[in-house]
Amino acid sequence: MKAIGQGSSHSKIILMGEHSVVYGGPAIAVPYSGVGVKVTVRPSALGQSTVHCAFYDGLVEEMPDVVASLYHTIHQTAAALQLSMPLEYTIESTIPAERGMGSSAAVACAVIRSLYDFSGQPLTQQQLLSLISESETIAHGAPSGLDGLLMTQETPVVFQRPAHLTPITFTKPLHLIVGDSGQIGRTKEAVLAVKSQIDAGETRAIKAVHAIDQLVQEAIAAIAKCQWEQLGHLLTKDHHFLQVLGVSSPDLDRLVASALTSGALGAKLTGGGRGGCMIAITDDAQQVPHIQERLLAAGAKKTYCHSLEALS
Ligand code: MEV
Repeated sequence: MKAIGQGSSHSKIILMGEHSVVYGGPAIAVPYSGVGVKVTVRPSALGQSTVHCAFYDGLVEEMPDVVASLYHTIHQTAAALQLSMPLEYTIESTIPAERGMGSSAAVACAVIRSLYDFSGQPLTQQQLLSLISESETIAHGAPSGLDGLLMTQETPVVFQRPAHLTPITFTKPLHLIVGDSGQIGRTKEAVLAVKSQIDAGETRAIKAVHAIDQLVQEAIAAIAKCQWEQLGHLLTKDHHFLQVLGVSSPDLDRLVASALTSGALGAKLTGGGRGGCMIAITDDAQQVPHIQERLLAAGAKKTYCHSLEALS
């Protein structure tokens, strides 16, 4: 047992394929370390376990429903490690919460890593993924597993259920700009809303999911040839089908439109939608500050930029 255990994790950006990935289609996703989570765990001086994070400061046993997945992760991981002593958890995150950037999976991942580090026991990839997956099921209802797997990756991948990962390489610079609408994203609600349309056999929704699958396949081919204009068109078309599925929002639509009129090659929402973030792409580094300024002027609360060349 160590005096202090530490764990960390990064964020993720879905380039294309959210929602359709839940039904078995491919998704292109990128780990993003520009924002992340750090967890420190040490023996508690209070005789009971406590948590300090942006959403809650108090006893583990009195954690509110809003952090139910965190409560579950702490309990399941401590049980797996047979740790029964009271512990103090300090969670520091720069990932905007509930914005489609993988905050819940990143917190779960960092908590699990911190507890294993504290206990001195080795953590296998399989144990980590299984514990994150339980946590994500509480946070998101019926997740594809994409967010959890992304926490263990350092470079862009194509993901397909159940856990198929193929690395994807960006051999010419491409800049991803994320605009945060400032609205809480509602991934669980959005995933359930799409599911109820699919379960009801709604043709429009079924066709939209198939159309997104096709767009992602075309995007994989476009990335292989560094055809960034083509990739941009595919992103914008993907946004249209996400609108059809009812997972966009007026704020996201406005930010997407603003990015397109500011010279971005393409733009769409990213993550679960119904709030949260959007992304735009450009191959011109000089355009990045201009697109970011226009997004802020159109109401984005914050923007992030990620250059994929650094990851190739
Ligand atoms: C959420 O980040 C991505 C969704 O496709 C849900 C999932 O894959 O679990 C909306």
